[in-house]
Amino acid sequence: MAKIQDAITERYSCRDFTGEPLKEDQLKTLAEAALASPSAMNLQPWHITIVTDKALLEELDAVGVKEIEAQDKDWYAQVMQRGGTIFYNAPCMVMVSSNGSDPAAMDCGIVSQNVSLAAHALGLGSVICGMARLPLSGSRKEDFEKKLQFPDGYHFGIAILVGEAKTEREPHKLDWGKVSYVP
Ligand SMILES: Cc1cc2nc3c(=O)[nH]c(=O)nc-3n(C[C@H](O)[C@H](O)[C@H](O)COP(=O)(O)O)c2cc1C
Repeated sequence: MAKIQDAITERYSCRDFTGEPLKEDQLKTLAEAALASPSAMNLQPWHITIVTDKALLEELDAVGVKEIEAQDKDWYAQVMQRGGTIFYNAPCMVMVSSNGSDPAAMDCGIVSQNVSLAAHALGLGSVICGMARLPLSGSRKEDFEKKLQFPDGYHFGIAILVGEAKTEREPHKLDWGKVSYVP
């Protein structure tokens, strides 16, 4: 119990990875954590794709950055200032595709937290990556959905980048003002 609470309070979003490939057993632990997630009525409206193909990750990253450039110049300038990447050199992306059912967004969100906590428990860094939606929303959508082996009718849900942290960060400060007790 204490270990789970430690993982919850120590976890932070890592945005600088060494790029060192993960081991098979680490990838299996991440997949297991994803599959163990709760879902409304246990419908499990997701598919989990574990991506370690460096060339594909780099391609998705580059297409995502191009989408940002097309959408918003200020956002693009920010991304370029932070190294011109939305994947931060992570060697692994856990892509959660969704069948789009009513509670699927919530269920996929829970998967992302399970994977992040499992990554932390393995001593790895992680960051939930909503921006991974970008390469999957432009003209390459179908091509990338096929490469990522989404089942028919499944689309981007959420993604989690995982790897050895190059730079560690402090967890965010807890805002106790957001809690009320009703005794
Ligand atoms: C649904 C969701 C999407 C997110 N997408 C991104 C993202 O695309 N890129 C990124 O760097 N961080 C992303 N984050 C991480 C948040 O920015 C981060 O959780 C928040 O700043 C709090 O920091 P912490 O995770 O270190 O506590 C996302 C987080 C969530 C929950």
